[in-house]
This record gives sequence, structure tokens and C-alpha cells, in this order.
Amino acid sequence: MDQAVAERLAGGLLAPLGDRWRHVQAVAAAAREVSGAVGPGDRDLLVTAAWLHDIGYAPEIGHLWFHPVDGARYLESLHAPHRLCALVAHHSCARIEAEERGLTAELAPWELETSAVMDALCMADMTTGPQGQRFTFDERVAEICSRYGEATVVPRSINRARPILQESIDRTVERLGTVQPR
Ligand SMILES: [Fe+2]
Repeated sequence: MDQAVAERLAGGLLAPLGDRWRHVQAVAAAAREVSGAVGPGDRDLLVTAAWLHDIGYAPEIGHLWFHPVDGARYLESLHAPHRLCALVAHHSCARIEAEERGLTAELAPWELETSAVMDALCMADMTTGPQGQRFTFDERVAEICSRYGEATVVPRSINRARPILQESIDRTVERLGTVQPR
């Protein structure tokens, strides 16, 4: 599955959701912008994963009501490449929210990839607001906490994940700084 197919698939399922679609379009654009931080052979995968990372919010698909796993399961059902499904399953430190929700076993079919692609995907998602705004990471975290209410599972997870997410962003920025012009 390439980025053009992913864009069509995501658009078909998420465009009716309005803001979610605006967010996904902006995350795909951000992923393209930071794609210099990953190897040339992984750039299409990065942008494809960005288009699909929130596909688990699509109302039409099967639901466990945990969007990283819902998205990965849906993509597996379409026979999407396993690595792509694993990026979606684990995007933006989903393992911590899975732990908070008691869904670690449901996430287990997909191994956690530790890579420049995962870092860049994380940066694209965590610097894009819920309506596609360009946010700093701190603004993104603050917005999530105010949207969900401090004491709930999502802010609790994001606060636990925060140092890990920050490291992903820092590594991506560093890689972008050392990219050699072609
Ligand atoms: Fe997202």
C-alpha cells in the first residue's frame, strides 16, 4: 500500500468526520516535511503511515474503542504490510495508553519498531493539533489535557509518554539537522 492508496482510503473513511480528517491531512503533510529524517527507502512508508495512523477512528470499522489497535486490525484485514500495521498500532507511544486501558494483550500482535520512521511519525502527529493546526509539542500536550480533562486515561497516558515522545522528536530534529543536501 503506497501513500496515494492510503490517502484515498483514509479520505473515504475519515473525511465525514471533519476535524479528524483535517488533523490527518496535516499529519501527512508534516510527515512529508520531516521525511528527510528517514532513509530514502522508508519515506513512502512514513507518509503512508501518517495517512493511516488514525484510521481506527473510522465509524465503519470494527471497534475495540482503542484506535491504534482498531486501525491496525482493520489494515491487517485489508492485507496491508505488517510493518505498516505495526507502525499504526504503536504510533505516538500507544503502548502506554494500552497499559492504562488494560489492552496490552490486544496490542501484542504488533512488535514495537524503534526507528527513525517511528520517531518521525511521532513528531508529525505530536506537533499537529486536532484541527490540523501546527503546534509545538508542549501546545499539543496541553491541548490534549484540556480536551480530555486532566484526570482521565488519555492525559494520564500522554503525561507518562511525554519523555519518550520528546526523545522521538529530539532524535528526528537531530536527524534533519544532519541530512546531507542531495
Ligand atoms: Fe493523530
